[in-house]
Amino acid sequence: MSKPSVSIIIPTYNEAENIGPLLDKIVEVLESNGYSSFEVIVVDDNSPDGTCNIVRAKGERDPRIKCILRTQEKGLSSAVVTGYKNAKSDIAVVMDADFQHPPEVIPKLIKAIEEGADIAIATRYGKGGGVEGWSRIRLLMSRVATIGVKILIREARNTSDPLSGFFAVRLSTINLEGLKPKGFKILLEILARHPCLKVKEVPYVFKKRRSGESKLGFSVITDFLMQSWEISPMPRFLLVGASGVLVNLLTMWLILKLTGLLDLASIAGIEASILSNFALHETFTFRHYFKRDCLGRGAVKRLLYYHRASLASIITTYIVMRLLVTLLSMNPVLGQFIGILMGFAVNYLLSVETVWECGRYGGC
Ligand code: GDD
Ligand code: MN
Repeated sequence: MSKPSVSIIIPTYNEAENIGPLLDKIVEVLESNGYSSFEVIVVDDNSPDGTCNIVRAKGERDPRIKCILRTQEKGLSSAVVTGYKNAKSDIAVVMDADFQHPPEVIPKLIKAIEEGADIAIATRYGKGGGVEGWSRIRLLMSRVATIGVKILIREARNTSDPLSGFFAVRLSTINLEGLKPKGFKILLEILARHPCLKVKEVPYVFKKRRSGESKLGFSVITDFLMQSWEISPMPRFLLVGASGVLVNLLTMWLILKLTGLLDLASIAGIEASILSNFALHETFTFRHYFKRDCLGRGAVKRLLYYHRASLASIITTYIVMRLLVTLLSMNPVLGQFIGILMGFAVNYLLSVETVWECGRYGGC
């Protein structure tokens, strides 16, 4: 069978020492694996070390190699999208320029796409994957970040390495205009906004950087939080929860004033907050859910299931508070506060698993 045409996309910033040898290696790997139709697109953000010039010099001898020089825009994720928009092939592979992503893995990623995957992710954490030369702390931090991302973003659970920067996609299966590429995490952005993609994984060992140093700095954290606002229901869910507390207290105060009945006032406050939270989750938190036909669960059922989630959350709050106060003699208000956090977690998980289970962007 003849090999498909592929585009390799490499975002760069100050990779003058790595890019030449990397391009040679990629061409060698592709040719020796029988790929005759390919292009390598380097997307460079005007590196002061002249990375783009090195690429262009190579491109004069080998027209399959090109450099797109960006002077207005910046950032890894948007560089990848620029690469996608300029790609001539339907299959596009993204990788780093510093040899941390071994070029030998490229044919395996392409093969996974040929075999039917929409996206093939090179994973450090699947069976057979790994990292080279990381300290225990670095490994732990990466693991924690990966788990955190999976809690926040449902679609990230389809892969063991949602923070990977090495993957292949079939471009016709994704909507480039719908991506908001901020920061580093372009894979996460693609996965979250396309919940139906067929994912395959290819394990690999993440190598040490050959030359220069990582550009991944502290801003990845703030960038990630900003990205989470878009692609995870969690921040909106939290905000709505906080508004529910206000609704609860106001209603209780009002009913108490009108009737003088404490139990009635308290229960009315709780119910009012459940109803207002529900309305806000439907119109705000999970707004996109309704753009696509999810599982066809009716509104009445959703309301009922949301009551169940809220009830479970209240019971959790109470039990946690009771345990902390009784067993650890904790301050009751602190105990209640920790109880509320646990109750929130239960409410969130039940909501995304049983009420609006297709996440922020709808299911398949
Ligand atoms: N065009 C462009 N613009 N390229 C950039 C920019 C930018 O602002 N910042 C970084 N790059 C390029 C680098 O030159 C390199 O080729 C690639 O993007 C990855 O950057 P590194 O600085 O080497 O990132 P890293 O090694 O710390 O992080 C890698 O591993 C992470 C997982 O541990 C990346 O692949 C991340 O995406 C990945 O999450
Ligand atoms: Mn790197």
